[in-house]
Amino acid sequence: MTQPVIIGSERSEVGLPAGMAVLRDGGSALDAVEIALRHCENNLEDHYVGTGGLPNARGDVELDASIMIGSTRAFAAVAALRGYPNPISVARAVLEKLPQHALLVGEGAGLFAAECGFTQAELLTDEARKLWREALLETEEAVEGENTDATPGDTAYRQAALELVRRLTPHDGPWGTINVLALDRSGELVAGVSTSGYPYKYPGRVGDSAVPGAGNYCDLRYGAAACTGRGELSMRGTGARAVVELLARGEDPEAACAAMLADVAGMPDEFRSELRVLALTPDGRHGAAAGQAGSVYALMTADSAEPEMRPRRVV
Ligand code: GLY
Repeated sequence: MTQPVIIGSERSEVGLPAGMAVLRDGGSALDAVEIALRHCENNLEDHYVGTGGLPNARGDVELDASIMIGSTRAFAAVAALRGYPNPISVARAVLEKLPQHALLVGEGAGLFAAECGFTQAELLTDEARKLWREALLETEEAVEGENTDATPGDTAYRQAALELVRRLTPHDGPWGTINVLALDRSGELVAGVSTSGYPYKYPGRVGDSAVPGAGNYCDLRYGAAACTGRGELSMRGTGARAVVELLARGEDPEAACAAMLADVAGMPDEFRSELRVLALTPDGRHGAAAGQAGSVYALMTADSAEPEMRPRRVV
């Protein structure tokens, strides 16, 4: 019987104990990943996932999430989903109830969530709205520029403001998407990713979290990997898939993560910000890498009383 393991990116420690409780009881990695990420999505203090996530440039919270099963390489995702607080559960519903498709976006993703009976909620918290307004507009007069019959001056101002937010770099400190990878007693491996995406993104922008091979990849033969950070980089480098391919060639998880980041770091990118990645193999080995010193990932085994923070290799 396989020893269960669950790992996650920064701030997943909010959800990993619930995921490990499922695994300890002999539950599935699919359930463990979903429940762990739901806890993260429901954490109002986290501004990069679920309710409380930072909105797009227009102040709308749009969520991306995906889930992938190692034994079948079944993948499902939702992207730019509005009004539903647990996109990871909607992604799982796509996997189970709409298996002819792999990715639903925007209005269609919302329609599907409604058909499945998920409950709608306001996702933009007062705190996230305040952060958005500060970042986007900076002054109260500018907020008054939001009206339905904008003058040419208003329009020019808003275009300039949107140019500004497109250039914004992420906040300091732990930020970004949440990845959770789990291995259950039956030996199944599952990878899940959830995010509110790049802060103040252009409306409709979808990141790597919803894209198979970019932000999330899971293949029971070799391992699972998932990314956080500027998703455009992992989409261009097919980051998660690249890590799994390195695992397939015999690299250990930390070395595979570091090699992928080193490759992506070589691509020209005017808006570069940090990309991080973590990996878990079917025999329970794990590792992670990041571009910034002090970056960590969270780990629980069946013996863990609480998540243990492990260092990522710095690239
Ligand atoms: N990695 C999350 C995003 O870029 O949206």
